[in-house]
Amino acid sequence: MSEQQENRDYDHKQSVRDCASIANHQTEENPKPHQGTEPFPVWLLIICVIILIVGGSYVGANSGGFEFANNNKSGYEPGVPAGLSGKAPELSEFEKYVKGGEAVYKAVCNGCHQATGAGQGQIPPLVESEWVINGTERFAQIVLNGIRGPLIVKGVSYGGQEMPAQKGALNNKQVAQVMTYVRSKFGNINESIVTKEMIEIARQKFGDRPNQYTSAELSPAQTMLPGDQPEWLAPEEPEAEAEPEPEPEPAGESARIDSGQTGNELINSKTT
Ligand code: HEC
Repeated sequence: MSEQQENRDYDHKQSVRDCASIANHQTEENPKPHQGTEPFPVWLLIICVIILIVGGSYVGANSGGFEFANNNKSGYEPGVPAGLSGKAPELSEFEKYVKGGEAVYKAVCNGCHQATGAGQGQIPPLVESEWVINGTERFAQIVLNGIRGPLIVKGVSYGGQEMPAQKGALNNKQVAQVMTYVRSKFGNINESIVTKEMIEIARQKFGDRPNQYTSAELSPAQTMLPGDQPEWLAPEEPEAEAEPEPEPEPAGESARIDSGQTGNELINSKTT
């Protein structure tokens, strides 16, 4: 081996060693970070220990030994905000009756006369209609047997469509309730109702008719169906119950009945 060749070999080995040493030094100076191997700081450990001691002694001193009897406050009842009883508001007998009529109306009349009672096209309105507000007799005749032909409602002429009889579909109570609902909702009449007894009489009188009425056949007079208003409709009734009389005086009782009859006569005389 020539001297030149040896020198070259030496130079080569030297440069390889240099490279290796540079690479080694680099790994030592900038070690690759490894997760989870960082040392836990001592100051943080001390703070944690202090928190555990202080917190633990506080809970121990105030927990009452974790006994149920020490922590249960007996007699506690959740309060109900004023004005909220948790129950639906009580409906009066009148409101219940009208509600029954509303259900019948929605099931039967709604499709033609609309929920608002405004009618549509050749179907006349019920809102403030004279056929609703005036006598209950002809109103019952219309509902029981239906109506057809020329008809004037609130000054507007109708007659393009017929109303079918409802006597087969509805019983006396349903007719009475729906008439009461229509009178109350669309006619604003709340001081008198139509009872099922009234419809029973109307059905006996008019129910045999085979076809619909025409408006010319219906009396323009404000004839009311005969029959008494139920006791619960009278506004003075609850007061009388709240004040129980020690001795029911026969004179007072008859006077009350008399005045009731006078009231009915008044309605009838007014309407005939
Ligand atoms: C199939 C459609 C239809 C149904 C259902 C119907 N009606 Fe009628 N109703 C009419 C038509 C049409 C007239 C007008 C008939 C005419 O022009 O002669 C009318 C007329 C009336 C009238 C007289 C006119 C007025 O507007 O005041 C009253 C009252 C009435 N209906 C109440 C009712 C009630 C209450 C019900 C439900 C129990 C009912 N109708 C169900 C179609 C209907």
